[in-house]
Amino acid sequence: MPRSPEEIKELQFHRAGTPPVWTKGEGVWLINDAGERFLDASGGPMVVNIGHGRSEIADVAAEQIKTLAYTLPSMIVESRLKLTEQIQKITPLGMNRVWYGNGGSEANEAAMKFSVQAQQVMGREGKYKILGRKNAYHGSTIFTLSVGDMPERRKAYLPLLPDVLDNIEPVADCNCYHCPFNLEYPDCDLACANDLEKKILDQGPESVAAFIAEPVVAAAAGVVAPPTTEYFTRIREICDKYDVLFIADEVVTGFGRTGVPFASQHWDVLPDIIVFAKGVASGYAPLAGFIAADTLVDAFDDTNTRINTLFTYSEHPVSAAIGAKVQQIMQEEDLIAKSATNGEYLAKKLEALREIPIVGDIRGMGSLRGIEIVANQETGDPLPARLNVAEDIQKHLFKNHILHYLGYWRDDDGAGAQLILAPPFIINEQEIDLLVETLGDVLSERASAYKKA
Ligand SMILES: Cc1ncc(COP(=O)(O)O)c(C=O)c1O
Repeated sequence: MPRSPEEIKELQFHRAGTPPVWTKGEGVWLINDAGERFLDASGGPMVVNIGHGRSEIADVAAEQIKTLAYTLPSMIVESRLKLTEQIQKITPLGMNRVWYGNGGSEANEAAMKFSVQAQQVMGREGKYKILGRKNAYHGSTIFTLSVGDMPERRKAYLPLLPDVLDNIEPVADCNCYHCPFNLEYPDCDLACANDLEKKILDQGPESVAAFIAEPVVAAAAGVVAPPTTEYFTRIREICDKYDVLFIADEVVTGFGRTGVPFASQHWDVLPDIIVFAKGVASGYAPLAGFIAADTLVDAFDDTNTRINTLFTYSEHPVSAAIGAKVQQIMQEEDLIAKSATNGEYLAKKLEALREIPIVGDIRGMGSLRGIEIVANQETGDPLPARLNVAEDIQKHLFKNHILHYLGYWRDDDGAGAQLILAPPFIINEQEIDLLVETLGDVLSERASAYKKA
């Protein structure tokens, strides 16, 4: 029996998805079935770097499907070669080898497995534990949930998680606005970085294979960078001291989001492995992967060892063609530089919002910006959890045709609210002006509403 459109909507796995039905994407805009235009201020979950609706990508995808839609990942295909060629134009020195998968969770999982295997290849058989940080997100598979710290997403699976089974405590997060030690930089002497050494020693260095962290924490904290380049220098030193590999999760920050190709390049040291996803194909296809230091992959080659993580759809020829085209556009239109200049313009405009009494902090790098919403600008104390501030502001911005992503840092009482702005790099100044003006109006109105609540 045919079902009505309403019944079919109900059959969707994500029933929570509320109308409208989205029908079109165009530049920084999403358009619904009533023809209303919404500014996509964070490109979905910080994905759509080159903007929506680029027909040249559709042409490349159609051509690839017509000529060669699928082969085994291990077979040489032109689109795979093109993608790797494009990526290698921007990889850091000494990091040339790329593994491909389909999404951020899969790529982080593969990178962590690779790091354990790399330790074995280098003769350090006992190293298998991966340390992550508090208030971090690295994905939704069991292994990535284990190194992340999002209680809501972890709670149903606790008995399965390696960190729970092995009693691995997360390393302190580096978030000066909510310092876990209640200290201030620089008097803190980077207690959060030093905590990595403590946690390695607690576990026994002979068992720790790798440490994973985002160079700039996106959703899990609402865009938080360390206060100084010294943070990751210290992390690198500690990792080197104990033969622990350093994995940078650049699923959000990779491919120009912070104004440079990879955010780890803002710091003075490089990781051993860089994981990427979202921006590589800008949402036009599922594509992700990791870039490893040549020395690590050489060690596999020298010992004739295979990387034992492979999926049927790894290096999919169509995703590869799309990724290569996205990166070609990024280069031809100089979009990493645009991410930097747009980001500076956005940051300058956002400064005006500091006058609104609930705006506690405005921060970020390039086209990745976070706004912390607070009860008290002096202390940074959050508004009460009962107000559901992050969701409430999201609802009101939606009414004003702005879509944006949330930060998830919360205190022990569940209070805390951050907004994330990560517009496509092709956004223009008028669109940024409109975004900031609407944001200012909504935040001022909500500030008055919360005062009365
Ligand atoms: C930093 C980070 N790592 C990993 C992931 C997981 O990526 P995916 O949702 O593509 O599996 C995300 C997703 O938002 C992320 O923000």
